[in-house]
Amino acid sequence: MSEFSRTLVTSALPYANGPVHLGHLAGVYLPADMYVRYKRLKGEDVIHIGGSDEHGVPITLTAEKEGISPKDVVDRYHTMNLDAFTKCGISFDYYGRTSSPLHHETAQDFFREIEQKGIFRKKSEKQFFDPKAGRFLSDRYVTGTCPICSNPEANGDQCEQCGTHLSPVELINPKSKLSDATPELRETMHWYFPLGRFQPALEAFVNSHEEDWRQNVVNYSRTWLRQGLSDRAITRDLNWGIAVPLDSDDAAGKVLYVWFDAVLGYISFTKEWAEKQGDAERWKTYWQDPGSRLVNFIGKDNVVFHTLMFPAILLAWNEGRRTGIYNLADNVPASEFMNFEGRKFSKSRNYAVYLGEFLEKFPADTLRYSIAMNYPESKDTDFSWTDYQNRTNGELADTLGNFIKRSVDFTRARFDAVVPVECTTEEWASLGIDWPETLRQLDEAFEQFHFREAVSIGMDVARSANRFLTGSEPWKVIKSDPEAAAKTMALSLNLCHALSLLLYPVIPETCNRIHSMLGFEGTLEEQFVRGRSMVDVLLASPLKKGHRIGEKSEILFVKLDDSDIEPELRKIEKLLQQAERKEASAVEAEMVFKPEITFDDFLKVDLRVAKVLAAEKVKKAGKLLKLQLQVGASTRQVLAGIAKNYKPEEMVGKNVVLVANLAPRKIRDEVSEGMILAVEGDGGDLFVIEPSGTEINGKQVQ
Ligand code: MF3
Ligand code: ZN
Repeated sequence: MSEFSRTLVTSALPYANGPVHLGHLAGVYLPADMYVRYKRLKGEDVIHIGGSDEHGVPITLTAEKEGISPKDVVDRYHTMNLDAFTKCGISFDYYGRTSSPLHHETAQDFFREIEQKGIFRKKSEKQFFDPKAGRFLSDRYVTGTCPICSNPEANGDQCEQCGTHLSPVELINPKSKLSDATPELRETMHWYFPLGRFQPALEAFVNSHEEDWRQNVVNYSRTWLRQGLSDRAITRDLNWGIAVPLDSDDAAGKVLYVWFDAVLGYISFTKEWAEKQGDAERWKTYWQDPGSRLVNFIGKDNVVFHTLMFPAILLAWNEGRRTGIYNLADNVPASEFMNFEGRKFSKSRNYAVYLGEFLEKFPADTLRYSIAMNYPESKDTDFSWTDYQNRTNGELADTLGNFIKRSVDFTRARFDAVVPVECTTEEWASLGIDWPETLRQLDEAFEQFHFREAVSIGMDVARSANRFLTGSEPWKVIKSDPEAAAKTMALSLNLCHALSLLLYPVIPETCNRIHSMLGFEGTLEEQFVRGRSMVDVLLASPLKKGHRIGEKSEILFVKLDDSDIEPELRKIEKLLQQAERKEASAVEAEMVFKPEITFDDFLKVDLRVAKVLAAEKVKKAGKLLKLQLQVGASTRQVLAGIAKNYKPEEMVGKNVVLVANLAPRKIRDEVSEGMILAVEGDGGDLFVIEPSGTEINGKQVQ
């Protein structure tokens, strides 16, 4: 038995600047929904909170690109995403918006509380300012050339091409996205959250979950902890977001950093949910009663915000308090990514299948089932149209749907639509399904977030049931031994009922249809009773002799023909071609040569042959190698973005070409004194230029 009597489940708040796609569904929303549905089935007290993340630069950038207001952007996508989730059967108890007044109030309360405790630090720093637009520029508003891979369109916070996290001042030739002006560095004041102050508490927190959290979640958190947590700016110069709630001049025009506000959305939305229940204080039991369990479903890119930053904010609030103390998460099941047809979903490349669009053509439950079977629990997985078609036809239609329909139809045809005999506990147990063990495994799978396994357990029972019915041949046996055929049908109908419960978390709409095909009134959910597990109901056989089944026999799953899938495959092909064309046109763009220079210009660049003496990876920058080079009599340290293609030990001993008179740059707290030449192939692989010859070390390349 769990030590908790109640569970608060949250799903990461998607940015309301675009439609959610199947990757989001697979990683966060479907697993969260299956988990809460399973708990409701078990009679547990659980609520599922989600909503739109409506602040931050992604929203303002979309607005500027489309020439509409940020409010227009979030209104459009909040509605669109909520609608898609509803169609998909994602059963949020509440789906909020971070633009709501109560959320603004909540986030500002947190800020004030932490400010009053003197925990924040204020620091003045130099930040890019757009002189034309008259505005300070957040990281994402600055673009320029990546210092690592030379991508000319790197963002101020990250280079999409090589994945390196950047700070805008590291960009070469920075430009403002607002006006194309070259930004200037100006002083600005910001509030910083000193994560380091909570380092020991956060270490203890993560350590205490070493056993029950996923390995990737623990590891990723520990990587950050090992490097030592530093101060994080939690305010921004932006005109969209939650105002810093202070009257001072230095707070004017500043908003809370989107991540500081977004994670608090979980709390605000629980408050809004409680208000809607007519019991405004009820949110507190879910957040502050130690008997409540908090589970945050997220994707792997959100881990440290949920295992370090959000807990730190809560710890700062809790500090010195006797009441109103928040629980920290009990688990943070972060998913890996689900790819589509072998490629990563990418919003910027427009390579995605959007949830709303999908559901206009295909039913939610077939999607839910296929996605659940591809749940990216511990490694990235791949979803394809063919897989979707095969699972729909083979598993859902031929196995599950066929079994239910045969059971119901035959009972109606030959037994007057009533359960013909009582089936005894012994007979129920004799089906060859070890019910207590099956239910124990099911429980463990759901409680430990092994969703593929949980769903497979249900589908395995469907396979056994189908085999049982086919093997018993009641349509033949009925002539010689009507009693035996009656038994078979009583057992089959009970199996239908069992399947409607076992598979309810993954295909709820279908299970409700099975429920009414079996002659029950209302929905399955209406049968759920707090404190009584419907799963236990399975252990008894609840369909008694004489029970009348429903009037309607439905086809639960329509099979997918190749002709249903073909247009989708063609569409994917087109998207792939577009993505490739985009890449190809990038290559063509390179064929447009740079403006002419004079020989003297060329001579300004001091190229030297150098030898790699030592190489190591750079912490927190997966793409970077730190190289120690020998150049004649001197040595140099250079950071090169080649870790994807070269192991450190492979580099040692190589001759390379060094740009020797490049101004030193600071990258990731390390100094890079020059750069080495490399060429990028079509596939994105980097090849270091290796000069060959004897006694060439330190010599000029010309
Ligand atoms: N909007 C973020 C994203 O899409 C997730 C925010 S999760 C929250 O990556 F907890 F902060 F809300
Ligand atoms: Zn780059």
